[in-house]
Amino acid sequence: MKILSVGSEIYPLVKTGGLADVMGALPAALAAESITMRALVPGYPAVMAALGAGAVALDITDLFGGPARIVAGEPDGLPLFALDAPHLFARPGNPYLASNGVDWPDNAQRFAALSRVASLVARGAISGFVPDIVHAHDWQAGLVAAYLHYDGLPAPPSVMTVHNLAYQGQFPAYLLGALGLPVAAYAMDGVEYYGSIGFLKAGLQFADAITTVSPHYAVEIATPEGGMGLDGLIRARSSVVHGILNGLDTANWNPATDRALVARYDASTIEARPANKVALQARMGLKPHPESLLFGVVSRLAAQKGIDLIIEALPLLESLDAQIVVLGTGDPAIERALAEAIARYPGRVGVMFGFEEALAHQIMAGADAVMVPSRFEPCGLTQLSAQRYGAIPLVSAVGGLVDTVIDANAAALGAGVATGLQFAPVTAAGLRDGIRRCAALFADRAVWQQIQRNAMALDVSWAAPARRYASLYRQLAQSRPGK
Ligand code: ADP
Ligand code: GLC
Repeated sequence: MKILSVGSEIYPLVKTGGLADVMGALPAALAAESITMRALVPGYPAVMAALGAGAVALDITDLFGGPARIVAGEPDGLPLFALDAPHLFARPGNPYLASNGVDWPDNAQRFAALSRVASLVARGAISGFVPDIVHAHDWQAGLVAAYLHYDGLPAPPSVMTVHNLAYQGQFPAYLLGALGLPVAAYAMDGVEYYGSIGFLKAGLQFADAITTVSPHYAVEIATPEGGMGLDGLIRARSSVVHGILNGLDTANWNPATDRALVARYDASTIEARPANKVALQARMGLKPHPESLLFGVVSRLAAQKGIDLIIEALPLLESLDAQIVVLGTGDPAIERALAEAIARYPGRVGVMFGFEEALAHQIMAGADAVMVPSRFEPCGLTQLSAQRYGAIPLVSAVGGLVDTVIDANAAALGAGVATGLQFAPVTAAGLRDGIRRCAALFADRAVWQQIQRNAMALDVSWAAPARRYASLYRQLAQSRPGK
């Protein structure tokens, strides 16, 4: 069975968040289920450089204002189709933003182009790779199912995965014609969304199946509180909505082999772990206190992630003699607030602004606990890597965080199965409660080590999620045989 996966980022070539991790991990995870997946991604400079010469699989004379081609290759074993369209994608830096931090003005055309070409490949434009299913990720691939629908030609079933409902891809209605959509598409049961064109809305409207990245988020997005304006549509399509958890690339995230660490370890050699804490404290300019409870955060700095709640909790961390390191980049206002916190709590708060893979690994291995106080979290990956590395996750009780962390409540402690802590409500007071509970557990080393062992034993791999995707694909393919 062949699947065409379509999205705007892919690890390790282009990444701003977990979407890239998922796009990058799915092909190998599904290979274990005897499914061949190829990812179609924009031919950004980093992608084209990784592909090298590649093989041209398709030529397109004019794609929204310029020539384009699909180049196929397998850099580092990752099966790729790159949409090489220099007028749209030959731009340095962030995939969505110009260097001044503002969205590229032609993002509608750029990602409609990705979806347009995906629809052609889905319908068999590349004879060597005719997919049985087309799997679109997030708003950037939202128009795939819409194009297939309005073209009205035989096409394989489609899956739309919501990684984050907060990013919806809304663009002015006057672009309809420029995007190659018929006038009839501008309707409530089409691509229209509150007076605009909604790319994600279109995908939710027309995909044969909708998935999101955790069961709990699937429930939340069907409610007015969590649906971000799309809950009505999600409810209307509830019979085809599935919550499938993300996995972690457990080869890349393995404390026993991780070359970014000063001391490698596994669950049976956990006594080697503290050397990583010492190294992390030194690297981040913290006081070298081995006994202080050290929290870590690895995050996009966006309102979603609740970093402001952490800043409000710093006085409590001080009174507990705890420390915190943050690795993140994003919203300038959040960066400023963190910079002030370093100045106010020297030796206690360490922050690194930027995107740095190795430091992310060092934080998972060196921190005692990893904070994820998100206001909403479709799945979340850092609580998975934290558990794999024996850092105890302290997470808000939302979205995929609920599904992936076993809270150390009395029942779980009694049964010896806790892997972390959940807190609610998602407020500064809620987080402070969570921090106090965490500190109390940390003070009891026997209990803490039990939680660490449980966390490290959890299966956070792609094995189970890949089986669920495979069964969904098979079910869809059977529902529309002989496409
Ligand atoms: P989201 O996709 O909402 O940003 P996830 O938790 O799903 O959140 O995924 C975030 C991914 O990005 C993880 O792999 C995490 O380790 C990584 N990450 C986030 N910020 C940074 C950073 N500043 N440096 C390195 N890795 C980061
Ligand atoms: C999104 C979500 C995050 C999820 C990731 C991968 O960026 O914010 O929760 O883990 O996508 O699915």
